[in-house]
Amino acid sequence: MGLVHRYKKGALCQGRRYLLLPEKPQWDMGSKLLCVFLASVLLAYYIYIPLPEDFSEPWKVMLISATLKTFGHLAGAAEQLGLMHYMEALNLLSCFDCVAPTSDENVTVTDTEFNNVAVRLYLPRKVPDGLRRAVVFFHGGGWCLGDAAAKNYDLLTRWTSDRLNAVVVSVNYRLAPKYSFPIPFEDAYSVTKFFLQSSVLSQYGVDPDRVCVAGDSAGGNLAAAVAQQLLQDSEVKTKLKAQALIYPALQTLDLNLPSYRDNANKPLLPRSFMVRFWSVYFTLDPSLREAMASNRHVPVEASHLFQFVNWSNLLPEELKKDHVYTTPTYGSSELAQKYPGFLDLRAAPLLASDAQLRELPLTYILTCEHDVLRDDGFMYAARLRAAGVPVTHDHAKDTFHGAMSFISPPADLVAGHRLVNGYIEWLNENL
Ligand SMILES: *[C@@H]1O[C@H](CO)[C@@H](O)[C@H](O)[C@H]1NC(C)=O
Ligand SMILES: *[C@@H]1O[C@H](CO)[C@@H](O)[C@H](O)[C@H]1NC(C)=O
Repeated sequence: MGLVHRYKKGALCQGRRYLLLPEKPQWDMGSKLLCVFLASVLLAYYIYIPLPEDFSEPWKVMLISATLKTFGHLAGAAEQLGLMHYMEALNLLSCFDCVAPTSDENVTVTDTEFNNVAVRLYLPRKVPDGLRRAVVFFHGGGWCLGDAAAKNYDLLTRWTSDRLNAVVVSVNYRLAPKYSFPIPFEDAYSVTKFFLQSSVLSQYGVDPDRVCVAGDSAGGNLAAAVAQQLLQDSEVKTKLKAQALIYPALQTLDLNLPSYRDNANKPLLPRSFMVRFWSVYFTLDPSLREAMASNRHVPVEASHLFQFVNWSNLLPEELKKDHVYTTPTYGSSELAQKYPGFLDLRAAPLLASDAQLRELPLTYILTCEHDVLRDDGFMYAARLRAAGVPVTHDHAKDTFHGAMSFISPPADLVAGHRLVNGYIEWLNENL
């Protein structure tokens, strides 16, 4: 049960009507108990999600998930009232804890623009030994939500800057549905390209040999796509040292991988929500979303691409479990002609050929077991290694998609802090 699963409206309304029953002002004990019982059942129904035994801090995760589910209902209501699109309403709600740029004793924080794209810049105050390292960071949120100013991202990028004594550029690329593909990618790319100019690097005291791109979820998608596209850009002289991909979305072709099947109803990112994010990245046309939901969106002309997402070859045995690989079901060519973005490398970096992967920099990939996107990360790790790229792959077995966003009270998770520390330590040792 997750963000987009609607509660049974009838049940809740009837419950409420019962509780407000007007004609009986003095309730007897039995009615009161029944009411308390029904209210608890409804609350439990709303909050409870069956989670596997090895899940870390399950009740806290359920409360977080229920809060986000409530945001989903509010956004749905705003859309039904004709106020704004569902994703736009959700984005307003998701920025409820956005913070102004606030410097502290170690890091100077400012909001500015690089190449006309908004960025939040973190500059360490400590005197460096020599040139500094730098991270260009892309936040997650399904290309539709999120902000560099959201408290969790502000903390993550601030800690990265402080602990690595590094310059961090956190990019506020424009969001779908208003700015659909390729605009979010292009914003991410143009900030990176601007920053990699030697004049800009030297202005910030950055070592051109120690720059990396990083991002989580949709941001990991953008980081992977930016790293690939830079290799083909003859105007860019600076090579990335590394890419860090935190539970990234990497492919649109097969939305029925074992991880999509096993985690279709896990917290934060149920399958239906991921399908919605993918389709809204390209268009609001519901026909793409419907085709993606039934995994029949790829036309037969694109069948040669399936080799790059063939989980039968690319996944370790323990993830395949009892799932049986079947040949893809193809859809109409019309969708792909109208919305070619979903077959574009800049949206689906896993579709790159081996030759295109070969030149990529040192890579960090984090995956979570209870995540529809788990297998995207596993398959990219396998393909990069096969292409000779050094990969560190951390797999968190006890947690879910988005865990790294829960690092400040009251919604902080032990797993969130652990994953953040693992990511920052890897950067510290490898960048
Ligand atoms: C600043 O750095 C010092 C030394 O590393 C650390 O103890 C302190 O907590 C940092 N301050 C903030 C606000 O992070
Ligand atoms: C996927 O891999 C399996 C096993 O190697 C193979 O039989 C199948 O033809 C492949 N399918 C595609 C579409 O590449």
